[in-house]
Amino acid sequence: MKTNIELNDAVLHEITKVSEVGSYLWLREWAERNGGNISVDLTDIFGELDGDINLFPHCSLNSIGEFSFPKESAGHIFFVKGTGERIRELSRPEDAGCVLRIDDEAKGYHILWGGRGQTDYAPTSEFISHVEIIIAKQKSGSKDRCVVHTHPLELIMLSHHRDYVSSDEIFTNACWKMLPEVRAFVPRGIGIVPYCMPGSQTMANTTTEKLMRFDVAVWEKHGAVSTGQDALEAFDYIDVANKGAKLFLGCLASGFEPEGISLADMQDLKETFNL
Ligand code: 13P
Ligand code: ZN
Repeated sequence: MKTNIELNDAVLHEITKVSEVGSYLWLREWAERNGGNISVDLTDIFGELDGDINLFPHCSLNSIGEFSFPKESAGHIFFVKGTGERIRELSRPEDAGCVLRIDDEAKGYHILWGGRGQTDYAPTSEFISHVEIIIAKQKSGSKDRCVVHTHPLELIMLSHHRDYVSSDEIFTNACWKMLPEVRAFVPRGIGIVPYCMPGSQTMANTTTEKLMRFDVAVWEKHGAVSTGQDALEAFDYIDVANKGAKLFLGCLASGFEPEGISLADMQDLKETFNL
């Protein structure tokens, strides 16, 4: 049984960006223990597979639940963090992650690289979400290939506030109004996914729906998800959104309700920067 292959420079470059973002998430205290996960669709840059696919260890999705991959994901190749693995250990991507190929029936996957060389290594428990999001994005013509899920402190805090978590618009405006950059660099805003079981099909479906309309999906009382062409771009969306939430909560903690940039001034930003 084969458990390793040579990765080309383009693939290694994308994985290096994942490692870099992993270190940012850890330093921000957004990645306790195994919290958070990252995956990148490498299909376009992977090239030809070196060797017969059947020589690589195979895992069937049926063995880990009632989930299914979208059928369009058949044959896609991902780098993905392993379930239970630490984001901070993505500095050693061959241990904290693996490269896998979704099989031709989209009912399982073969592990091609990394995964500590174990034949039963499993991708993040949120992998169904990641695959569904990336396939939906690609079908819509987006160039996004990476999904980042993390536990950003202030976005989570604000998602515990009933007045804000009940509405995409109210939550988004609380963040947008704190700094022009939040309005500019999270231009489509933040969508809320009501609390649901981590790793569930409901979570995958609702998150996909939100990320087709918003730059960031906030999982109520859990975390945030975004996509980008690479890990750095996906990280930026969450980082900037969290800045808005942090400024907002900081003002409340200082005992005053922030005035915020007016709706008219935000409209001006939208028109000036063509947001
Ligand atoms: P995994 O270890 O399975 O990636 O889970 C981490 C997490 O944040 C789940 O939401
Ligand atoms: Zn999580």
